Amino acid sequence: MTAMLTVEGMNAWYGPSHILQGVDLEVRRGEIVCLIGRNGAGKTTTLRTIMGLVDRSTGRVVFEGQDLMKRPAHIRNRLGLGYVPEERRIVSGLTVRENLRLGLLASAVKRPERVVIDEVATIFPRLAERLDQTAITMSGGEQQMLAIARATVSQPKLLMLDEPSEGIMPVLVDEMFELFGRMRDGGTTILLVEQNVELALALGDRAYVMDGGGIVHHANSAALLADEATKERYCSV
Ligand SMILES: Nc1ncnc2c1ncn2[C@@H]1O[C@H](COP(=O)(O)OP(=O)(O)O)[C@@H](O)[C@H]1O
Ligand SMILES: [Mg+2]
Repeated sequence: MTAMLTVEGMNAWYGPSHILQGVDLEVRRGEIVCLIGRNGAGKTTTLRTIMGLVDRSTGRVVFEGQDLMKRPAHIRNRLGLGYVPEERRIVSGLTVRENLRLGLLASAVKRPERVVIDEVATIFPRLAERLDQTAITMSGGEQQMLAIARATVSQPKLLMLDEPSEGIMPVLVDEMFELFGRMRDGGTTILLVEQNVELALALGDRAYVMDGGGIVHHANSAALLADEATKERYCSV
């Protein structure tokens, strides 16, 4: 399988702090790739650097044959990279429909609103029942689904999700992970950062483990799921 995204020797700095120290990873078309590791390992910085949101970075980030390093975030988005940050960034005072409309306005892919709403309703039935509900009145899990739905409006080829299950009721987490599986079946490739290691590995195809700003281990998800020593060493809190 050919790589959709190749990251090689990626370094990133926040001010004087050298955070990412040569990250290498690859995401192939149709995969769910998990990125795991304890707090402060550099997972969020990895996604932000791939997305072009970190001011100082070096190395190679190649997406569908294009070198992204010199390209600003909005161009990376246009090329098919989707990103749902940890803090979600939905507009809490607006309804579900209005949030989706904003996603559509920001998207390079122009589609009729009706088509987008129909699509969202199919993939996210929970949101379909709440189109005119204000986001702030919804549960954390529903708000997270809205953030994900909004990112899918631009039909990203690769969707990067940063700890989508954080702070969400277990029943909704299960629903969300089923949703990721359906999205993969529907052709979306996913790079998933998760603290919920067992669930992520049960769903994913391959996994990378981060520690100290670099990748320290990679394996098939099933193999890592069974590898208690590695999980204990790098993922326990
Ligand atoms: N805006 C920032 N300014 C300075 N240091 C930061 C900033 N964001 C994160 N860091 C540091 O970078 C390291 C990696 O953080 P992060 O990528 O958020 O890790 P993770 O997502 O794996 O928890 C941590 O040491 C963190 O303190
Ligand atoms: Mg993080």
